[in-house]
Amino acid sequence: MTDLFTPLRIRGVEARNRIAVSPMCQYSCDRDGLAKDWHLVHLGSRAVGGAGTVVSEATAVSPEGRISPNDLGLWSADHADALRGVADFVSRQGAVPAVQLAHAGRKASTSRPWEGRDPLSLDEGGWETLAPSDVPYPYDGEAPPVRRMDSDDIEKVKDDFASAAERALDIGFEVAEVHAAHGYLLHEFLSPVTNGRDDEYGGCFRNRVRLVREVVREVRDVWDDDKPVFVRVSATDWLPDRDSWTVDDTVRLADLLHDDGADLIDVSSGGLHPDQSIPHTGANYQVPLAERVRNRTETEVLTSAVGCVVESNQADGIVRNNRADLVMVGREHLRNPYFALDAGRELGIDDLPVPSQYLRGF
Ligand SMILES: Cc1cc2nc3c(=O)[nH]c(=O)nc-3n(C[C@H](O)[C@H](O)[C@H](O)COP(=O)(O)O)c2cc1C
Repeated sequence: MTDLFTPLRIRGVEARNRIAVSPMCQYSCDRDGLAKDWHLVHLGSRAVGGAGTVVSEATAVSPEGRISPNDLGLWSADHADALRGVADFVSRQGAVPAVQLAHAGRKASTSRPWEGRDPLSLDEGGWETLAPSDVPYPYDGEAPPVRRMDSDDIEKVKDDFASAAERALDIGFEVAEVHAAHGYLLHEFLSPVTNGRDDEYGGCFRNRVRLVREVVREVRDVWDDDKPVFVRVSATDWLPDRDSWTVDDTVRLADLLHDDGADLIDVSSGGLHPDQSIPHTGANYQVPLAERVRNRTETEVLTSAVGCVVESNQADGIVRNNRADLVMVGREHLRNPYFALDAGRELGIDDLPVPSQYLRGF
C-alpha cells in the first residue's frame, strides 16, 4: 500500500516521501526580487528537516507580477544567480527543489501582511496592475490602477513565464509549479467573476481556460521532458451565490492541463473575492477537493492536497486512502521545519534521511 513515505516518482524525478513544503511568500527581498540569506535558510532548513519536495514561495515572473515590493522574482539573470544556491542546497539535502512561478494580476502592489496587506497607490511605491478586466480587487482602501490586458500584454505574460522557467531549470530546480490559484492573474482569467472579456480569452469555459493552458504549454516546452510540471489551482471560488469557478470546472481543467503537459494538480481553493464563503476551515478542509480531482479526472493526472494538515497520521491517511498523491504542508512547516522527520519517527519509518551532522540527536 502506498503511504506517506513511499517515494513519489514523476517522470525522471523521485521525491523521497510524499511530504512537500507548501509555497509560502516570505516578503523578504530588498524591493529588488533578489533572493537573500533568508530564502536559503528558510527553504534549506525545511530540506534538512526531511521534506521530500520543497516548493519556493510565489516567485514573480515580472516586477509587476509581485504581490508586494518585497516578493521574490526570477525575471533576469541576476535573479537566477541569487536563487541558484537555494536550489543547489535543497537538492544536496536530498529534497526535490521546486519553484512556484507566479503573477499576482490585480492583487499585485500591496504592502506585506505584517504591514497590513493594504493596496499600495503609485505615491506609496505601488504600480499599475494587470488583469483580464479593468475592475480592481474590492479593497476597503483605494486600489492601485488596474489595466485590462491587451493581446501584447498576454503574449508578454506567456513569454515571462517561459523565460522564468528556463532560468529556473538552468539553476537546478527540478519541478516548475505554475501558480493559477488564490485570485492571482491566471485564476482571474479562469473565473467568470473576474473575467469580463469578450475576446478569445473570455466568455465560455474554453476561452477562460485558454491563458492558463497556453502558459502551461509554454512552460512545458522549455522544461526538461524528464522533469515534472505542477499547476496550483483554486478548485472553487467559494462563491455559490453567483456564476463562479467550481470544482466541476476544475476536474475538467485538470484533464486539459494534463494533455498540455502538467503532471500534478496542486489543489487549493478561494482567494478570488472577499465575499467567499468557506463552509469550514478545519483539518483536511480542502482534501475533498483534491480527492474529487484525483478520482473524477479521466487522465492519469496526479494531485496534491493542502490545508490544515498538521499531524503525521493525518498526512499518512490522505495518501493511504488514495485521496491525494502528495501532501503539501504549509503553516505547520513554519512552526516545525522538522515536520517530515518527526512524522517519520511517529510512523515508525526506519531509514529516515537524518543529515549526518544531526545523527547524534536522533
Ligand atoms: C505565510 C504564508 C504565505 C503563503 N504564500 C503562498 C504562496 O506564495 N503561494 C501559494 O500558492 N500559497 C501560499 N500560501 C498558502 C499555503 O501554501 C497553503 O496553501 C495554505 O497555508 C494552507 O495550508 P496550511 O494549512 O498547511 O498552511 C501561503 C500561506 C502562508 C501561511
